[in-house]
Amino acid sequence: MLKDIFAVQPVHPTPHVDAGEHDQGPITGEIPLKRALTARHLVMLGIGAIIGAGIFVLTGQAAAMHAGPAVVLSFVFAGIACAFAGLCYAEFASMLPVSGSAYSYSYATLGEIVAWFIGWMLILEYLFAASTVAVGWSGYFNSLLQSIGEYAGMSLALPAALASAPLTVTDGHISTTGALINLPAVLIVGAISYVCYVGVTQSASLNAVIVAIKLVVILLFVAFSLQFVNTANWHPFVPPMDAAGHFGWPGVFRAASIVFFSYIGFDAVSTAAQEAKNPQRDMPIGILGSLVVCTILYIIVSAVLTGITPYTLLGTAHPVSTAIEGYPSLRWLRIVIEIGAIAGLSSVILVMLMGQPRIFYTMAKDGLVPPMFGKVHPKYQTPYVGQVIVGIIAAILAGLLPINVLGDLVSMGTLLAFTTVCIGVLVLRRTRPDLPRGFRVPAAPVVCVLGAISCFALFAVAFKDNWLWMSGWIVAGLLVYFLYGYRRSKLRGAKR
Ligand code: ALA
Repeated sequence: MLKDIFAVQPVHPTPHVDAGEHDQGPITGEIPLKRALTARHLVMLGIGAIIGAGIFVLTGQAAAMHAGPAVVLSFVFAGIACAFAGLCYAEFASMLPVSGSAYSYSYATLGEIVAWFIGWMLILEYLFAASTVAVGWSGYFNSLLQSIGEYAGMSLALPAALASAPLTVTDGHISTTGALINLPAVLIVGAISYVCYVGVTQSASLNAVIVAIKLVVILLFVAFSLQFVNTANWHPFVPPMDAAGHFGWPGVFRAASIVFFSYIGFDAVSTAAQEAKNPQRDMPIGILGSLVVCTILYIIVSAVLTGITPYTLLGTAHPVSTAIEGYPSLRWLRIVIEIGAIAGLSSVILVMLMGQPRIFYTMAKDGLVPPMFGKVHPKYQTPYVGQVIVGIIAAILAGLLPINVLGDLVSMGTLLAFTTVCIGVLVLRRTRPDLPRGFRVPAAPVVCVLGAISCFALFAVAFKDNWLWMSGWIVAGLLVYFLYGYRRSKLRGAKR
């Protein structure tokens, strides 16, 4: 049995694919995914997935509760771990342009059960993240309604009963809040799912427009706030640890595990590999290009944020607009930032909702999830059945659950996937040195080992606070594997 569950999927060198060529075709038939994305699309897709709730919501909380101004260092640490992982993703994506991302990479290197485990973790990263960010979207949306209402002299904001989660979790116990449903969160998931359903080109083009808006808003924030930076706010840079065990260097690392959330998404570029015109060349550009742009922006934004406002005031649901509230001349920026945040969060939801069905699509090809996830729409050429199912589940989660519990789970699932990808690069260098690689990790033994260690260390820091939830998710995944995937696996079916 051990041999069975660690069966490795054979890897075949991928022929060079030219612009306009179609992917070789899904399981059920004949209709391929469409190769339409260029390097520019891919960088925009990455930025679309990366900049979102992390910078717009979590940065403030990480600074106020864990790291103080040293949240800048937390961004640097998380960014370094992501850079190692990003290099490894770039090598894999240029070698195996398939839409299964870390799932496919682990199937090719570490065996079926590890692949299943990573696929299960990617549900946290994509589906749960889409719901989590939709909840953040709802908060900003309601706050924009309130701002507009203030200008117009009327009350436009939705009542809390229709704009917040009916369930909450305190100290591991689930309780009700009295709210009915988070309606804006449900609606935004529904609307974006529809865009994903009707076609990847449309999705990528819409994404490019949204990304442009949020980049401009972030640059405006930096440009107009810079003049108010007061270096006194950066002292002490690493606040001493308090009685509750917050702050100090452990706080900086805990904050790194929280703001790691803001980097999630560069790997989502790899799920579009089967729809890229020239994956061998453009995948590394998409992954590393988007990561570099976002890292630079995050470091600047977090430095400005903690420079213009004492970090103790930043623990709100909208820290970027909170930070400028104290400057009357910047009032106009508040509404602009709210619009930018809404745009930013929308594009994250879009990329996450696009990624999940494509991972299921690949898993369906392997027999590990039901074949309906492999169906491609005859007209739109998208994995439409998976898209609908993912949209419904994401909408339900977004309508019912609060944002805080899910953030750490999303990050932990992603960190385990990153750790596996770093190890996988080394394994495949040894087992298949012959495969053509469009991009090679420089100094692979060092980069891959440091990548695996740093990602796993960030996972461990967050696991300490969430071990019960995470363990439950892992046990559920193993049950599903042994009850379904283990019996239906095509790889082992072929060997039997
Ligand atoms: N990186 C994404 C965000 O911050 C998930 O919203």
